[in-house]
Amino acid sequence: MPVTPILPDIDRSVSIEQISEISDRLTTMMAELREQMLAPRPRKKSPVFGSGQVALLCGIDRSRLNYLVGKEDIGLPPGVLHGNGRSRSFTLDEAQVWIRKLSGFPARPAGTPGQILITANFKGGSTKTTTAMSLAQGLTLRGRKVLVVDLDPQASLTELCGLYAERDVEEEDTVMPYIYHDQKDLRYAVKPTYWANLDVIPANPSLFSAEFVIPSYIINDPKLRFWEILANGLASLRHEYDYIVIDTAPSLSYLTINALMASNAMIMPLVPESLDFISSVQFWKLFSDLTQTFMKLDPGKRFDFISVLLSKVDYGTTSSSRVVRAWAQRAYGDWLLPVEIPASSVVGSEALEFATVYDIDSWEGSKKTLSRIKDPFDAFVKIIDERTAQKWSRS
Ligand SMILES: Nc1ncnc2c1ncn2[C@@H]1O[C@H](COP(=O)(O)OP(=O)(O)OP(=O)(O)O)[C@@H](O)[C@H]1O
Ligand SMILES: [Mg+2]
Repeated sequence: MPVTPILPDIDRSVSIEQISEISDRLTTMMAELREQMLAPRPRKKSPVFGSGQVALLCGIDRSRLNYLVGKEDIGLPPGVLHGNGRSRSFTLDEAQVWIRKLSGFPARPAGTPGQILITANFKGGSTKTTTAMSLAQGLTLRGRKVLVVDLDPQASLTELCGLYAERDVEEEDTVMPYIYHDQKDLRYAVKPTYWANLDVIPANPSLFSAEFVIPSYIINDPKLRFWEILANGLASLRHEYDYIVIDTAPSLSYLTINALMASNAMIMPLVPESLDFISSVQFWKLFSDLTQTFMKLDPGKRFDFISVLLSKVDYGTTSSSRVVRAWAQRAYGDWLLPVEIPASSVVGSEALEFATVYDIDSWEGSKKTLSRIKDPFDAFVKIIDERTAQKWSRS
């Protein structure tokens, strides 16, 4: 009987030394690619608003807008006149002046600190960052002054703010110097963005260090109220902003715990798919286990509201969203917002790389496609702002 020779297997085992070698090789390769990858991107610009859009944002009709433009004593910016003499365009700053003067949205009472909102979910890709940025932009279109804080080392929110995290952001621009006790609060890290009345505390990958630094403080001082570090750093800034919106990484990191404990209200974007739903259940279980510990030390902590926003909803007939929506309704009751954000080709499109629907000022597709995604965002922003204004009116 012929004997089949036994061929030796390939040894696929990898030692730690070999990992270091490949890491060195990849670093060298990255240095070569870096120049190409970090080629300058066009600077982000805020959109231009037509008379109709400004009138809508102010809650007035267009003829009233045209009438008010002529009244110089009111001090409303006239914008730039076009073509037939009836249509005007306004910059974002100008539109915001109109909105503040005419919309009648209740202002934050003097002395009341700004509202801290967080978008949180441990599931990656659940649209936390898109929701945080769209909410922040939408709030400025209701005349609010907003600070966004990026606590995700992936720095996607920083990118949406028009900063190139790899090139424009150093560790000293992030929350890290405050975490290292080199700064007494977070004021040093606030940067203006391309979007009027929207500032940012940016992130970069150095934020990972917080996960080693904070535990080292706890070892030295087991009584340290480590979950209050961020809240303390933001305390004085709350008087300068109507809203502080925090975006977190998809994990229960020390920074995420800090952000959850610093916020007054939580928004959990939830893609209605079964794995996302299961992950959201795990989020509440972990959060609850964790907060049981803090609550003993901080029994007064309350959230003004917790809202679950169904997001990236697929309305296709084969989608599981209908079933998962029913689970979410059952599980979350009135935490579930009455508005949901559809999955949209507009958001995923190349035109919106590093941008949100609020950045669009000329859209080549149909108006209906754009409003199918923009209207729900407007409705979402309105609900959040109204809930907060209700709290302000009670204070
Ligand atoms: N309504 C939508 N329709 C289609 N795509 C969307 C929609 N909203 C967000 N996306 C896309 O989904 C992806 C994930 O969104 P996003 O980065 O906001 O999620 P995330 O929860 O912040 O992710 P991570 O956990 O990595 O931080 C992005 O590519 C974004 O452009
Ligand atoms: Mg994100």
